[in-house]
Amino acid sequence: MPPDPNRIVELPTRLIHAPIITVEQHLLREQRRFAGVSGEFSWLVSGITLATKLIQAKVRRAGLSDILGAAGIINVQGEVQQKLDIYANEMMVHSLSARDSVAMLASEENEHPLLAHGGSPNAKYIVVFDPLDGSSNIDVCGSVGTTFSILRRASERLDSAVMADEVLQRGCKQVAAGYVVYGPSTMLVYSAGNGVHGFTLDPAVGAYVLSHPDIRMPEHGKYYSMNEAYLERSPGAYRRYVARLHRGELGRRYASRYIGSMIADFHRTLLIGGVFLYPPNDQHPQGKLRLLYEANPIAFIAEHAGGSASDGHRRILDIQPESIHQRTPLVVGGREEMKAFEAEMAADSAT
Ligand code: AHG
Ligand code: MN
Ligand code: MN
Repeated sequence: MPPDPNRIVELPTRLIHAPIITVEQHLLREQRRFAGVSGEFSWLVSGITLATKLIQAKVRRAGLSDILGAAGIINVQGEVQQKLDIYANEMMVHSLSARDSVAMLASEENEHPLLAHGGSPNAKYIVVFDPLDGSSNIDVCGSVGTTFSILRRASERLDSAVMADEVLQRGCKQVAAGYVVYGPSTMLVYSAGNGVHGFTLDPAVGAYVLSHPDIRMPEHGKYYSMNEAYLERSPGAYRRYVARLHRGELGRRYASRYIGSMIADFHRTLLIGGVFLYPPNDQHPQGKLRLLYEANPIAFIAEHAGGSASDGHRRILDIQPESIHQRTPLVVGGREEMKAFEAEMAADSAT
């Protein structure tokens, strides 16, 4: 019998109630919730998801292709660039500059901001990123990552060409921020100000699928994460704080975990709690990490997950940047760890 052309049937309920949510669907849902977050925003973020898929594919084959090791170039930070640093930067610049809502890009690997569609009034956004964080881990098959921070141009400046100093915005102005960690799996964690959400890349289909909705940082954890080799050369408050963690004065004895890849160290801290520290020391009196594209996105994620981030004196997100590659000390963690850290810093400033 031929099929009845007038018949239509219900969708199976199991397909409605257990949906696979991709990051693109999630963003569309987010932007419906917020006025001012338009379709071009999710198109912009798709530039980041495309670039990070290309980067992860290269990272996964790093031991097989001629991509391991130093490129023989020193970047603007005076650090040796790895070949993958350069590749990752090119993928981010390539994918994002194709989005006409992007006025300007700023990267750890470029001394100056890069002009994208800076003369167009439709180009509302500025994207700042560290294309490959923890790159010294690549040659030993350790986890690395990409951070990103999305800023909006001031509406009164949209009619004029974008200026380099428009990137110097406090972290609290970020429209969205996040990171991708290239670990045993590839995971994207982002917030657009409405919770923190994690997506795991399904490599078989090439989609970031919601795996960790509404991540909350535990109020406390059991690990602290820092390069302890520098501790003796850091201010006394940091040394006293770490001694308190060792002695169990916060209610539990802490163990240490440190990879030397900020995103991977922070990702663990976000999911299972604890504290990550990169204090100032005599070699790096302003700390080592960069405010705009390392500390700010991490602080934004931490705060939206119920934690906090400080430079020892101020909330990271309140710091007014003065230059694009500015460094800052960074301490980020759960509520209990941060309360104890701030008390230790306050004890120093009271004397
Ligand atoms: P990058 O690879 O982008 O230069 O960043 C490396 C950073 C960060 O990921 C990590 O937390 C820190 O360097 C490690 O520094 P130490 O080796 O001084 O511990
Ligand atoms: Mn980095
Ligand atoms: Mn980097």
